[in-house]
Parts: sequence; structure tokens; C-alpha cells
Amino acid sequence: MTVKINPSILSADFGNLEAALHSIDTADAAHIDVMDNHFVPNLTIGLPVVKRLREISPIPLDVHLMIERPDTEALRYAEYGVESITFHLEAAKDALKLARDLKSMGIKSAVSVKPGTPIEEVFPLLSEIDMILIMTVEPGFGGQKLIESTLEKIPLARKAIGESGREIVLQVDGGVTVQNIGRLAALGADCFVAGSAVFNEADPKENIARLRLAAQNA
Ligand code: DX5
Ligand code: ZN
Repeated sequence: MTVKINPSILSADFGNLEAALHSIDTADAAHIDVMDNHFVPNLTIGLPVVKRLREISPIPLDVHLMIERPDTEALRYAEYGVESITFHLEAAKDALKLARDLKSMGIKSAVSVKPGTPIEEVFPLLSEIDMILIMTVEPGFGGQKLIESTLEKIPLARKAIGESGREIVLQVDGGVTVQNIGRLAALGADCFVAGSAVFNEADPKENIARLRLAAQNA
């Protein structure tokens, strides 16, 4: 299993995002949390900032849209050539159409579910998407504790991915630490978002290496 570590810049210094992106250039992608203060009770960055981050980032951007109306909005982010776009199943009016629209633009697409949404609701989309994102905290804020009851979704999603015969990445986001990442990997996750576990008092590159090793050894 190839492990991917995607640090969330939500926990980085918003006063110097260029330096933050360079400090994580050993990661597989930078996870960009877009929040609109409607779908989640927090507001972060939007189109103009993501456009600029795409221009200056040394690594691909993994954009996580926690916004209402992704059906139209996601396509505007796609125009900037980001590597992948994740939208929430709870917010999309027609998730299948949106996944197809993103594919036609050459963008990898992912569908995310909040802790209260059954993972089975994603399975009809497996023929169209490139990644599933299982939220392991309520979306909105970094630095929260992982919700244990969300973990049962991981093996269910892994099994469905296997049955689909497609190469689909299984991402987890929220409360991922060097202590619990091995357990998440053993359950079947292969892509790990980590915000506070990467941007803390230690060097981000060292944190990425530690997380990667712990996941690989699982
Ligand atoms: C939460 C975001 C996460 C968050 C993760 O809504 O989607 O990406 O930044 O932060 P940590 O790793 O600190 O839980
Ligand atoms: Zn996220």
C-alpha cells in the first residue's frame, strides 16, 4: 500500500502560506480546507487565494470544499488546475453529475461524508470518483479529537473499493496523529490529512516523515 500524507494548511501560519507550502514539500499534496461559514461554522479561504496557492505551491493541491452549492462552485476551482477536488455528499444536489463534470475537466474528484452520514451513500458513486474522504471529526476546525465511531466506515469503504475494481484512494481527515495513524492504516485508509500533527512545534518535514513511517509500518 502506498501511503500518502497530505498536510492541512489550516494549522499553518496564514500570514505566510508560501513558506508553509515549502515547509511541507516532502508531502504528497497540500490539503486546502475551503470553508464558507454556511456548510460549516467557520470561514477560511476562497477562489482568489486558492488560485495563487496553485501558482506558488511546489506540491499538488488537494482541495477540500466544505461549502454549500458545490455543484457549480467546484467547477470554478477546477478551472485553476488543482490536482483534486473533494466535495461533500451532504451539500451536493447531484453528486454523480458533479463527479462526471470534474472528470471531464481532467480533475480527480472525491466525495466526503461527515461523521453522521452513512458511508454506504458514497458507494453508488464509485464508478466515477477517484477518492473517498471519511471525516473523522465534524468538519469546521483543526485540532479536534478523532471520533472513534467514524472508524468503522474505513473497512467498509476499503471493501467496496476492492469490489469496484477501481483504484480509489481512501482518505481520512481530522484528529490524525502519529499515535493513531497506524490504526487507521491497518483499517484500510491510505491517504492521511493532518493539520495540527504537522504544523506544531516540531519541523513539519520531520512530522511528515514520522507520520509516513507509522502508517507504512502498520
Ligand atoms: C477540518 C478540516 C481538516 C483539519 C484537520 O474541518 O477538514 O482538514 O484541518 O486538522 P487536524 O489534523 O488538526 O484535525
Ligand atoms: Zn480537510
